Amino acid sequence: MIVGAQWGDEGKGKIVDLLAQHSDLVCRYNGGPNAGHTIVVGGETYKLKHIPSGILGGKECVIGAGCVVDPQVLIEELDDLEGRKVSTELIRLSGNAHLVMPWHPAIDRASERRLGKLQIGTTRRGIGPTYADKAYRLGIRVQDLLDSKILRQKIEVALAEKNVWLERVYGEEPIELEGLVERYEGYAERLRPMIVDTSLLVDRALRDGKRVLFDGAHGTLLDLDHGTYPFVTSSPTLAGGASAGIGIGPTRIDCVIGVAKAYVTRVGEGPFPSEIEGPEHDRLQELGGEFGTVTGRQRRCGWLDLVGLRYAVRLNGMTSLALTKLDVLSAFSELPVCVRYLLPDGTETEEFPAHQSDFHHCRPVYETLRGWEEPLDGIEDLSDLPERARAYVDFVERQLGVEVSLIGTGAERTRVLSARGVAAVASA
Ligand code: GDP
Ligand code: IMO
Ligand code: MG
Repeated sequence: MIVGAQWGDEGKGKIVDLLAQHSDLVCRYNGGPNAGHTIVVGGETYKLKHIPSGILGGKECVIGAGCVVDPQVLIEELDDLEGRKVSTELIRLSGNAHLVMPWHPAIDRASERRLGKLQIGTTRRGIGPTYADKAYRLGIRVQDLLDSKILRQKIEVALAEKNVWLERVYGEEPIELEGLVERYEGYAERLRPMIVDTSLLVDRALRDGKRVLFDGAHGTLLDLDHGTYPFVTSSPTLAGGASAGIGIGPTRIDCVIGVAKAYVTRVGEGPFPSEIEGPEHDRLQELGGEFGTVTGRQRRCGWLDLVGLRYAVRLNGMTSLALTKLDVLSAFSELPVCVRYLLPDGTETEEFPAHQSDFHHCRPVYETLRGWEEPLDGIEDLSDLPERARAYVDFVERQLGVEVSLIGTGAERTRVLSARGVAAVASA
């Protein structure tokens, strides 16, 4: 199981792609087109939103029940991959996943506009409204595409309510029924062959002794229950969400690898204790190429936050950590690492604050490590890592009490260092 340990964009796509080489099945269990995973293989860059990052390795890929699917975006992704000679034949889509309907992005955009200064900074992809309708039991599911009578009826019922919202609450144009039904019937034709019982498929794969990799989207601090609410996404992002999102028991997951950048980024609004102020911020942003995969927005950058990471280790039951983008830190002579938070009452803590006001007003307490100030480009073996880079990784391991099993030194699939070897990490 691969899970984001910060606020998303940790480099999960690259790690999943890498470990997929040693897996049989790769499954997404949460989120939708708000995720953006960039994978670089042989100089080619691929950007995935819905499709699990195992697709480039030619693996069978599952989009589970916990996901929300925008059919238009998914079809564009399929076309893009096919156009680049990547087969999409092995993609399996759960009939229980919910569909992003055109009113969802419209409501997402209008709601953010109304919130003004208080906005969440969502990706405007309709994620919150889609999950809200799912909980409200007004959602339309992938399997509704299989029967045009049911599809029409469900769209009709939902639209009657949504158009009132769009027109009267948000001052938007209403959506017309006929054109919409026709459009979704078209999507149905394309997606029909992919729709299967994915819970049964994964269960059978596990029973047959196959290796199943879970591809978690977003990040721990964006989790709906345990993240920095309300500045979170609307799905469970923790390892625990995988069993519910796919439909297998939690006892089937035996290894949880958290992915964290060697620093931190965040897109959208919300508190961020170790955010950098001043010119070093822009330098880190530029060197790390910290611009969103989905929206192109600038990612806010900060120093590594071990309080947040310790929380992520706990919430996910992490068995090891993949530390990505260590190469980006080569440019800095000093590397502050946040080891504790100073709370408004003057006390210091190593644990993530349970109360929102403590988190919003805490200050980072840094321990500054010396940088290695040399590129990590040609390094193929962990033993060749500069001593101070090794010390940085060791510091993280010691502070968190968890092994760093993979170290990212570049965007390419091959740019990774591991003491145990990638195959051993994948089979843990
Ligand atoms: P994800 O959403 O967690 O899959 O991460 P994104 O793909 O949104 O953002 C991570 C970015 O960092 C992508 O552009 C990756 O190609 C890139 N990346 C991943 N690992 C490394 C690494 O170790 N070093 C460098 N320099 N780039 C990396
Ligand atoms: P990956 O899988 C980074 C953030 C958005 C916003 C908040 C709510 O690429 O790591 P939403 O559209 O989900 O309602 O937005 O969550 N967010 C992400 N930030 N990476 C992601 O996914 C994200 N998914 C959601 O920026 O702050
Ligand atoms: Mg991303």
